[in-house]
Amino acid sequence: MTTKKMWGGRFKKKTDSDVERFTKSIDYDYKLAKYDVYGSLLHVFVLNACGFLTKEEEKSMSNALRKIYNDIVSGKFKYNKRSEDIHTDIQNKVEKEVGPLSLKLHTARSRNDQVLFDLKLFCRDELLYVGKLCKELQNSILEICEEHKETFIPGYTHLQHAQIVRLKDYLGSYAEMFKRDLDRLDNTRERIRLTLGSGALAGTPIGSTLYQEMAKKFVREHKELKEIFSTEHIDKVSNTLDTVSDRDFVIEVLSVLSIMGMHLSRFAEDLIIWSTKEFGFVEIDDAFATGSSLMPQKKNPDVLELIRAYTGTLYGNLMSVLTMMKGLPLTYNRDMQLDKPPLFSSFEIIEQELKIFPKLIKTLKWNKKTIEKAIENDETLYATDLVYYLIKKGIAFKQAHDIIGKLIKFSLDSSRKIKEMSNIELKRFSDRLKQEEIVKLLDPETSVKSRESVVRTSNV
Ligand code: ARG
Repeated sequence: MTTKKMWGGRFKKKTDSDVERFTKSIDYDYKLAKYDVYGSLLHVFVLNACGFLTKEEEKSMSNALRKIYNDIVSGKFKYNKRSEDIHTDIQNKVEKEVGPLSLKLHTARSRNDQVLFDLKLFCRDELLYVGKLCKELQNSILEICEEHKETFIPGYTHLQHAQIVRLKDYLGSYAEMFKRDLDRLDNTRERIRLTLGSGALAGTPIGSTLYQEMAKKFVREHKELKEIFSTEHIDKVSNTLDTVSDRDFVIEVLSVLSIMGMHLSRFAEDLIIWSTKEFGFVEIDDAFATGSSLMPQKKNPDVLELIRAYTGTLYGNLMSVLTMMKGLPLTYNRDMQLDKPPLFSSFEIIEQELKIFPKLIKTLKWNKKTIEKAIENDETLYATDLVYYLIKKGIAFKQAHDIIGKLIKFSLDSSRKIKEMSNIELKRFSDRLKQEEIVKLLDPETSVKSRESVVRTSNV
């Protein structure tokens, strides 16, 4: 048994039950319920403004919609699993409330237009939330940076020791990435313009120009919408054909979330490496690690590994919508229904990750001694500083590079510390190398301070 459909007049036969199951979207688009009601409330305003609903009819329809809305926000709302989609489900619920009057609700409206409005409002709302979580993560990183202003660590390129940096700058680089993400979230959100009045594809003869004006009144009555929907966010549609067939905004959102997931994954990867016995720079708190069913000694970074793995799902979601869209003729096609599962999935993944990550990094235990040892045991981290030292003494860069290269090679081959070499030994490489000066240079703080104009984190 199916529920009442929003179409059917021209059909003689009942829909095959497998087709019914195959085509319905209610099991995922129920998430749009709240936004669908908002769209209908606005639509009812418009229908009244152009004389298709009396004031009284508008009132009873709005009351019914508000009742449904309250059920949604209080968690009482239950969608009928047999409804084709959320638009049908809410239409049927309005009918239960107001009877035949509900038959006027869909006047001059198409689900093609409705689903777009719902999805855009949903995205605006979710992007705002993700932005807040992203800001919190950024702040947590900056807090940790504050604590580690004087901690020095080896900086890596190719995962090989490169030059010494401050831990706060290392972590601060992730804060920079999330700052860019936040920017992208805001820009994407700003570009999502709400639209109504396109009809199925070709516009409607009723009220299509009134949405912008009515939205003003609507927003005044729905203060809770202030952040996600203001009159600046509703557009007069310039091309209805484009409007109903546009899913660029979904693709943009999925791209932004993918980039953010990629950043989280890189951060996770650094922490996974740093928490190995070989590195031992950090220890993950028990509450954010897992054990092994066989090896009792294990403490595994599963949370970080899943963050790394979910990046694949995020990219897959983006690819799925890009591919789904690429061959579609204008205008609306049912293919577009499949934009929702990937979109919902990506938001869910990112939101979960952004909730866990700040807690995980705040509880990390930094093993300062091990980090110090990693620096102490490796003079090659100062090789570039030694090159600069020679340049300042008038030696050409390439020559200086060569001299220090040879010095390092000798030091490694003979297991002789540069610090401990006498001036006579150093002279074999260059008579400009002076032990008493070199000893001062081979110090983490001196090394980092000499480059302070270059390594800088704007936030810290
Ligand atoms: N559930 C559809 C979607 O998500 C909206 C319904 C439009 N259906 C249609 N046959 N025109 O895109």
